[in-house]
Amino acid sequence: MSSLRKPRGLRIAGNWKMNQGVAETRTFFAALSKIQLASGAKFPEGVTSSLYVPALSLATAQQAVREMPAPWNGITVGVQNAHWEKSGAYTGEISGPMLTEAGVKTVLIGHSERRQFFGETSETAAKRTRSLLDQGFEVMLCVGESRTDRESGKTEERLREQLAPLAGFQHEKLLIAYEPVWAIGTGLTATPEQANEAHAFIRSFFPRTPILYGGSVTPKNVVELMSQTEIDGALVGGASLKPDSFSQLIPAL
Ligand code: PGA
Repeated sequence: MSSLRKPRGLRIAGNWKMNQGVAETRTFFAALSKIQLASGAKFPEGVTSSLYVPALSLATAQQAVREMPAPWNGITVGVQNAHWEKSGAYTGEISGPMLTEAGVKTVLIGHSERRQFFGETSETAAKRTRSLLDQGFEVMLCVGESRTDRESGKTEERLREQLAPLAGFQHEKLLIAYEPVWAIGTGLTATPEQANEAHAFIRSFFPRTPILYGGSVTPKNVVELMSQTEIDGALVGGASLKPDSFSQLIPAL
Protein backbone atom coordinates (compact mmCIF):
# COMPACT_ATOMS: atom_id res chain seq x y z
CA MET A 1 0.00 0.00 0.00
CA SER A 2 1.43 3.34 -0.98
CA SER A 3 0.59 6.73 0.36
CA LEU A 4 0.13 9.24 -2.44
CA ARG A 5 0.57 12.76 -1.15
CA LYS A 6 -0.74 15.35 -3.57
CA PRO A 7 -0.52 19.13 -3.27
CA ARG A 8 -4.14 19.43 -4.40
CA GLY A 9 -5.38 16.37 -2.47
CA LEU A 10 -6.71 13.27 -4.19
CA ARG A 11 -10.36 12.81 -5.15
CA ILE A 12 -11.85 9.45 -6.03
CA ALA A 13 -15.24 10.00 -7.66
CA GLY A 14 -17.81 7.51 -8.91
CA ASN A 15 -20.22 8.11 -11.80
CA TRP A 16 -23.15 5.74 -11.75
CA LYS A 17 -24.59 7.06 -15.03
CA MET A 18 -28.14 5.71 -15.64
CA ASN A 19 -27.68 2.81 -13.23
CA GLN A 20 -28.94 1.92 -9.74
CA GLY A 21 -32.43 3.07 -8.80
CA VAL A 22 -33.62 3.36 -5.21
CA ALA A 23 -33.66 -0.38 -4.40
CA GLU A 24 -30.24 -1.02 -5.97
CA THR A 25 -28.83 2.03 -4.21
CA ARG A 26 -29.97 0.60 -0.85
CA THR A 27 -28.43 -2.77 -1.72
CA PHE A 28 -25.16 -1.11 -2.81
CA PHE A 29 -24.70 0.76 0.48
CA ALA A 30 -25.76 -2.19 2.62
CA ALA A 31 -23.02 -4.25 0.96
CA LEU A 32 -20.47 -1.40 1.14
CA SER A 33 -21.20 -1.00 4.83
CA LYS A 34 -20.64 -4.73 5.46
CA ILE A 35 -17.36 -4.70 3.54
CA GLN A 36 -16.17 -1.64 5.44
CA LEU A 37 -17.11 -3.07 8.84
CA ALA A 38 -15.24 -6.28 8.00
CA SER A 39 -12.12 -4.60 6.61
CA GLY A 40 -11.98 -1.44 8.73
CA ALA A 41 -10.18 0.22 5.80
CA LYS A 42 -9.36 3.89 6.27
CA PHE A 43 -9.04 6.60 3.63
CA PRO A 44 -5.42 7.65 3.25
CA GLU A 45 -4.80 11.23 4.39
CA GLY A 46 -5.86 13.87 1.85
CA VAL A 47 -8.21 11.53 -0.03
CA THR A 48 -11.85 12.56 -0.51
CA SER A 49 -14.62 10.82 -2.38
CA SER A 50 -17.78 11.74 -4.23
CA LEU A 51 -20.46 9.74 -5.98
CA TYR A 52 -22.61 11.08 -8.85
CA VAL A 53 -25.89 9.17 -8.77
CA PRO A 54 -29.14 9.35 -10.76
CA ALA A 55 -31.32 12.18 -9.41
CA LEU A 56 -34.04 9.75 -8.33
CA SER A 57 -31.55 7.82 -6.19
CA LEU A 58 -30.13 10.95 -4.57
CA ALA A 59 -32.12 11.01 -1.33
CA THR A 60 -31.58 7.28 -0.77
CA ALA A 61 -27.84 7.62 -1.39
CA GLN A 62 -27.55 10.66 0.91
CA GLN A 63 -29.34 8.85 3.73
CA ALA A 64 -27.30 5.68 3.21
CA VAL A 65 -24.01 7.62 3.25
CA ARG A 66 -25.00 9.31 6.54
CA GLU A 67 -25.49 5.85 8.04
CA MET A 68 -22.17 4.45 6.75
CA PRO A 69 -19.29 3.83 9.14
CA ALA A 70 -16.49 6.44 8.96
CA PRO A 71 -14.75 7.38 6.72
CA TRP A 72 -17.32 6.38 4.11
CA ASN A 73 -19.89 8.66 5.73
CA GLY A 74 -17.80 11.54 4.33
CA ILE A 75 -18.62 10.71 0.69
CA THR A 76 -20.24 13.66 -1.07
CA VAL A 77 -23.27 12.64 -3.10
CA GLY A 78 -23.88 14.65 -6.28
CA VAL A 79 -25.84 14.53 -9.53
CA GLN A 80 -24.78 14.13 -13.15
CA ASN A 81 -26.15 17.31 -14.76
CA ALA A 82 -28.01 20.56 -14.00
CA HIS A 83 -29.36 23.51 -15.97
CA TRP A 84 -27.81 26.98 -15.94
CA GLU A 85 -31.16 28.76 -15.40
CA LYS A 86 -32.68 28.75 -11.93
CA SER A 87 -36.21 27.88 -13.10
CA GLY A 88 -38.36 28.00 -16.22
CA ALA A 89 -39.66 26.12 -19.23
CA TYR A 90 -36.88 23.53 -19.54
CA THR A 91 -38.67 20.19 -19.55
CA GLY A 92 -36.62 17.37 -18.09
CA GLU A 93 -33.97 19.58 -16.50
CA ILE A 94 -33.02 20.16 -12.85
CA SER A 95 -31.97 23.55 -11.48
CA GLY A 96 -29.40 24.70 -8.96
CA PRO A 97 -31.98 25.92 -6.39
CA MET A 98 -33.69 22.51 -6.53
CA LEU A 99 -30.34 20.83 -5.91
CA THR A 100 -29.52 23.19 -3.04
CA GLU A 101 -32.87 22.35 -1.46
CA ALA A 102 -32.01 18.65 -1.83
CA GLY A 103 -28.64 19.15 -0.09
CA VAL A 104 -26.47 18.65 -3.19
CA LYS A 105 -23.05 20.28 -3.15
CA THR A 106 -21.35 18.83 -6.23
CA VAL A 107 -22.45 18.40 -9.87
CA LEU A 108 -20.89 16.62 -12.85
CA ILE A 109 -21.08 18.67 -16.05
CA GLY A 110 -20.33 18.03 -19.72
CA HIS A 111 -19.76 14.29 -19.53
CA SER A 112 -18.90 12.87 -22.97
CA GLU A 113 -22.18 10.90 -22.96
CA ARG A 114 -24.09 14.20 -22.56
CA ARG A 115 -22.05 15.60 -25.45
CA GLN A 116 -22.48 12.48 -27.61
CA PHE A 117 -26.17 11.68 -27.04
CA PHE A 118 -27.84 14.86 -25.74
CA GLY A 119 -26.40 17.73 -27.72
CA GLU A 120 -24.22 19.15 -24.96
CA THR A 121 -21.66 21.52 -26.47
CA SER A 122 -18.59 23.14 -25.01
CA GLU A 123 -20.64 26.36 -24.78
CA THR A 124 -23.60 24.85 -22.91
CA ALA A 125 -21.25 22.92 -20.61
CA ALA A 126 -19.46 26.20 -19.83
CA LYS A 127 -22.80 27.97 -19.17
CA ARG A 128 -23.79 25.25 -16.71
CA THR A 129 -20.36 25.37 -15.09
CA ARG A 130 -20.32 29.14 -14.54
CA SER A 131 -23.90 29.30 -13.29
CA LEU A 132 -23.53 26.43 -10.85
CA LEU A 133 -20.22 27.73 -9.51
CA ASP A 134 -21.91 31.13 -9.02
CA GLN A 135 -24.64 29.36 -7.07
CA GLY A 136 -22.06 27.84 -4.73
CA PHE A 137 -21.76 24.33 -6.11
CA GLU A 138 -18.59 22.41 -6.75
CA VAL A 139 -18.50 21.50 -10.46
CA MET A 140 -16.61 18.63 -12.06
CA LEU A 141 -16.36 19.52 -15.75
CA CYS A 142 -15.56 16.61 -18.06
CA VAL A 143 -13.48 16.94 -21.23
CA GLY A 144 -11.75 14.42 -23.49
CA GLU A 145 -10.90 13.54 -27.06
CA SER A 146 -12.41 10.81 -29.24
CA ARG A 147 -10.45 7.93 -30.71
CA THR A 148 -10.41 9.70 -34.10
CA ASP A 149 -9.06 12.86 -32.47
CA ARG A 150 -6.25 10.94 -30.81
CA GLU A 151 -5.38 8.90 -33.88
CA SER A 152 -5.23 12.00 -36.03
CA GLY A 153 -3.05 13.87 -33.52
CA LYS A 154 -5.86 16.24 -32.54
CA THR A 155 -6.02 15.55 -28.80
CA GLU A 156 -4.75 18.97 -27.75
CA GLU A 157 -6.85 20.76 -30.35
CA ARG A 158 -10.01 19.05 -29.06
CA LEU A 159 -9.17 19.78 -25.41
CA ARG A 160 -8.42 23.42 -26.26
CA GLU A 161 -11.76 23.69 -28.08
CA GLN A 162 -13.66 22.14 -25.15
CA LEU A 163 -12.01 24.46 -22.63
CA ALA A 164 -12.09 27.63 -24.78
CA PRO A 165 -15.42 28.97 -23.43
CA LEU A 166 -13.82 28.98 -19.96
CA ALA A 167 -10.49 30.49 -21.06
CA GLY A 168 -8.94 32.53 -18.28
CA PHE A 169 -11.53 31.33 -15.79
CA GLN A 170 -10.47 30.26 -12.31
CA HIS A 171 -12.64 29.07 -9.46
CA GLU A 172 -11.72 27.29 -6.26
CA LYS A 173 -14.71 24.93 -6.59
CA LEU A 174 -13.96 23.88 -10.17
CA LEU A 175 -12.57 20.41 -10.87
CA ILE A 176 -11.81 19.08 -14.34
CA ALA A 177 -12.09 15.41 -15.31
CA TYR A 178 -10.01 14.39 -18.32
CA GLU A 179 -11.78 11.40 -19.83
CA PRO A 180 -10.55 10.21 -23.24
CA VAL A 181 -13.76 8.99 -24.91
CA TRP A 182 -12.01 5.92 -26.32
CA ALA A 183 -11.14 4.80 -22.77
CA ILE A 184 -14.65 5.13 -21.27
CA GLY A 185 -16.31 1.79 -20.58
CA THR A 186 -14.00 0.06 -23.05
CA GLY A 187 -11.43 -1.51 -20.75
CA LEU A 188 -8.83 0.55 -22.64
CA THR A 189 -7.05 2.88 -20.27
CA ALA A 190 -4.84 5.76 -21.32
CA THR A 191 -1.32 4.87 -20.30
CA PRO A 192 -0.25 6.82 -17.21
CA GLU A 193 2.10 8.79 -19.52
CA GLN A 194 -0.69 9.63 -22.02
CA ALA A 195 -2.94 10.74 -19.17
CA ASN A 196 -0.18 12.74 -17.51
CA GLU A 197 0.62 14.50 -20.77
CA ALA A 198 -3.03 15.50 -21.38
CA HIS A 199 -3.31 16.66 -17.77
CA ALA A 200 -0.20 18.82 -18.13
CA PHE A 201 -1.77 20.39 -21.24
CA ILE A 202 -5.01 21.15 -19.37
CA ARG A 203 -2.99 22.44 -16.42
CA SER A 204 -1.38 25.04 -18.70
CA PHE A 205 -4.85 26.70 -18.85
CA PHE A 206 -6.00 25.88 -15.32
CA PRO A 207 -2.89 25.95 -13.11
CA ARG A 208 -4.66 25.63 -9.75
CA THR A 209 -7.55 23.36 -10.71
CA PRO A 210 -7.54 19.70 -9.62
CA ILE A 211 -7.60 17.46 -12.71
CA LEU A 212 -8.96 13.91 -12.40
CA TYR A 213 -8.48 11.09 -14.89
CA GLY A 214 -11.41 8.95 -16.04
CA GLY A 215 -11.65 5.98 -18.40
CA SER A 216 -11.66 2.34 -17.30
CA VAL A 217 -10.11 3.04 -13.88
CA THR A 218 -10.22 -0.07 -11.66
CA PRO A 219 -8.69 -1.10 -8.32
CA LYS A 220 -5.91 -2.73 -10.40
CA ASN A 221 -4.71 0.37 -12.25
CA VAL A 222 -5.72 3.13 -9.83
CA VAL A 223 -2.40 3.31 -7.97
CA GLU A 224 -0.27 3.55 -11.11
CA LEU A 225 -2.51 6.24 -12.59
CA MET A 226 -2.75 8.21 -9.36
CA SER A 227 1.04 8.12 -8.95
CA GLN A 228 1.42 10.46 -11.94
CA THR A 229 2.39 13.95 -10.86
CA GLU A 230 -0.33 15.74 -12.85
CA ILE A 231 -3.22 13.45 -11.83
CA ASP A 232 -5.27 14.61 -8.85
CA GLY A 233 -7.88 11.90 -8.74
CA ALA A 234 -10.08 9.51 -10.67
CA LEU A 235 -13.60 9.60 -12.09
CA VAL A 236 -14.75 6.01 -12.16
CA GLY A 237 -17.77 4.61 -13.99
CA GLY A 238 -18.07 0.81 -14.18
CA ALA A 239 -15.89 0.04 -11.15
CA SER A 240 -17.95 2.41 -8.96
CA LEU A 241 -21.13 0.39 -9.51
CA LYS A 242 -20.09 -2.67 -7.53
CA PRO A 243 -19.55 -2.31 -3.77
CA ASP A 244 -16.53 -4.62 -3.83
CA SER A 245 -14.64 -2.79 -6.57
CA PHE A 246 -15.69 0.65 -5.30
CA SER A 247 -14.57 -0.28 -1.79
CA GLN A 248 -11.15 -1.34 -3.11
CA LEU A 249 -10.36 1.85 -5.04
CA ILE A 250 -9.54 4.09 -2.11
CA PRO A 251 -7.77 1.73 0.30
CA ALA A 252 -5.58 0.68 -2.66
CA LEU A 253 -3.97 4.12 -2.68
P1 PGA B 1 -15.61 3.94 -16.96
O1 PGA B 1 -16.43 5.34 -17.05
O2 PGA B 1 -14.82 3.99 -15.68
O3 PGA B 1 -16.67 2.89 -16.95
O4 PGA B 1 -14.73 3.88 -18.16
C1 PGA B 1 -15.86 6.55 -16.69
C2 PGA B 1 -16.83 7.69 -16.90
O5 PGA B 1 -17.52 7.70 -17.93
O6 PGA B 1 -16.95 8.61 -16.07
